[in-house]
Amino acid sequence: RAQAAIDRHARLVADFPSPGISFKDLTPVLADAAGLDAVVGALAEHCAGADLIAGVDARGFLLGGAIARELGVGLVAVRKGGKLPPPVVGIDYELEYGSARLELPAEGIAFAGRSVAVVDDVLATGGTLLAAARLLRQMEARVHGLAVVMELAELDGRGTLSAGLGTDVPVWGLCTG
Ligand code: PRP
Repeated sequence: RAQAAIDRHARLVADFPSPGISFKDLTPVLADAAGLDAVVGALAEHCAGADLIAGVDARGFLLGGAIARELGVGLVAVRKGGKLPPPVVGIDYELEYGSARLELPAEGIAFAGRSVAVVDDVLATGGTLLAAARLLRQMEARVHGLAVVMELAELDGRGTLSAGLGTDVPVWGLCTG
């Protein structure tokens, strides 16, 4: 059902973000009530068993809240650097061009021993999810799994994630693009 909704509503954008690349825009899938329901339901099935959902800045927020509510568990936003009030814990990581930073609250949320599922819209190189998972481990949480709507298989994000986290952390993608 999720795959059908994605096939039906995702918009293909030619030559974005660079010439020759065909970009699959998931925005219309989530704007459709049945599409949102199907995608959130499928991701929630994968995340079942986690006791906290972590949504990655920014489009992971859209999915994370809905999944957490569906599973009856709590939600935390993994923010880009400089957005959260202190104290924070952060991790810097490399992008193709330049670097980025993700942060979590260092106080007020008991991460230690929690089983956390990390949610985002797209797995590309895997750098973002790897950093989010490492940050959660730094807080002594257990990474239950990593769930995305779409994975860009040719970038081998899965390889990056298994090399960085070990092969025992499941990665779930609803479609490839
Ligand atoms: C996109 C996407 C993922 C990340 C995947 O976010 O939403 O978070 O890139 O790329 P990676 O696997 O190569 O790390 P973006 O950085 O565009 O931020 P946004 O969600 O705030 O637009």
